[in-house]
Amino acid sequence: MEIIKIDTSKVSGAVTPDEINALGGEALEANDLLHSRRGAGSDFLGWVNLPEEITAEKIAETERVAGRLRKLADVVVVIGIGGSYLGAKAVLEAMSDSFACLKREQGRPVVVFAGQNIGEDYLYELVEALRDRSFALISISKSGTTTEPAIAFRILKAELEKRYGKEQAARRIAAVTDSSRGALKKLSDDQGYDTFVIPDDVGGRYSVLTPVGLLPMAAAGLDISEFVRGAQDMARATAQGVPFEKNPAAVYAAVRNALYRKGYKIEILASYDPKLVYVAEWWKQLYGESEGKEGKGIFPASVTLTADLHSMGQYIQEGERTLFETVIGIGRPKHEVRIEEDPDDLDGLNFLAGKRISEVNSMAEIGVAIAHVDGGVPNIRIEVPELNEYYIGALLYFFEKACGISGYMLGVNPFDQPGVEAYKKNMFALLDKPGYEKESEEIKKRL
Ligand code: PA5
Repeated sequence: MEIIKIDTSKVSGAVTPDEINALGGEALEANDLLHSRRGAGSDFLGWVNLPEEITAEKIAETERVAGRLRKLADVVVVIGIGGSYLGAKAVLEAMSDSFACLKREQGRPVVVFAGQNIGEDYLYELVEALRDRSFALISISKSGTTTEPAIAFRILKAELEKRYGKEQAARRIAAVTDSSRGALKKLSDDQGYDTFVIPDDVGGRYSVLTPVGLLPMAAAGLDISEFVRGAQDMARATAQGVPFEKNPAAVYAAVRNALYRKGYKIEILASYDPKLVYVAEWWKQLYGESEGKEGKGIFPASVTLTADLHSMGQYIQEGERTLFETVIGIGRPKHEVRIEEDPDDLDGLNFLAGKRISEVNSMAEIGVAIAHVDGGVPNIRIEVPELNEYYIGALLYFFEKACGISGYMLGVNPFDQPGVEAYKKNMFALLDKPGYEKESEEIKKRL
């Protein structure tokens, strides 16, 4: 049985099934490179086999620490940026009640995020909001030296220590970092924090199946075993040796490369469920950092529909014809809401009476897809049966695998991010960081 369905029938105005199949061999070769670790960036391919390497003991240890944080605190602040934050945020948003902030669920701490920006007001408001709440920290940084999370951790750790003393504060902190390097590792060892390791051969944006993703999910009360099981099944469905047409990751990678080669340079990830906004943010980081290099790469954008039909809809329908759209469809919603008959029918909506909201949403999706395809926007559809831990685990691993395959097909190293360093060098020079004296002198001449 397919875990997720991928429908490429609506790209045929731009690329034919034969053109897609012609790339099947290339996609499978790229998949082989991932498994045999013979391609570019092969030092960072630990994520490929992660699902099968997650043992029951590792899950139990993650749940043990998460359980302690949940017992001690009403609020768990997860500190991290980029790949050290977006996976957990994506899964938590997809799985959470949209209005959990208005409810008080026994035993479930609120999980919030910090260190993903340098907004002064953001941090001030967070510290203020934590004043009357008991809180704990999960600090995540592979390098242990990233400025944004390091600033947030310094401030929140000081708050925690002021309130509970150093020793008790240490019980409320867990760290996820490199096995041996970086300031966070040293601090964790010195202070005796519970520490989880991000394997050396797993890069940030491919780390959702390490404690980077699993610890915050467990702290939020999610079933991480199911998340891992979904990823394991998807790993089997996309393994080496699976024929092209049966491997959804190879098919998705082939279609997007076929479109790119025909001039479709922008991919919009669209969803009709607002719970998937951060899945799109995670996906943008995964594909943007993996493929956008050497002057190449599909630009990853995203929209939430139908909301963005009222903002981006015009451009998608009639703007420059370099876009294609990938829709994530959710098979069935968790809850049922029907539209009721209104005796006055002043809004003229009685023609919808008796229908479920999801039927209206589905018809909107079909109508939009037809309009966009007619307007010259090829449409790929990925269907996930429902939003639960199992299917989200499968979906995220599917996107990771497709990204690795697609990056190799594009001819880049999908596992480095040399361009990210440019801003850091300038920022450190402007802030007079020791060691940046020469850069500092040069950059200040440009102000
Ligand atoms: O995907 C990546 O490698 C990056 O987005 C990193 O995750 C991000 O820069 C954070 O790095 P670190 O975990 O070292 O703080």
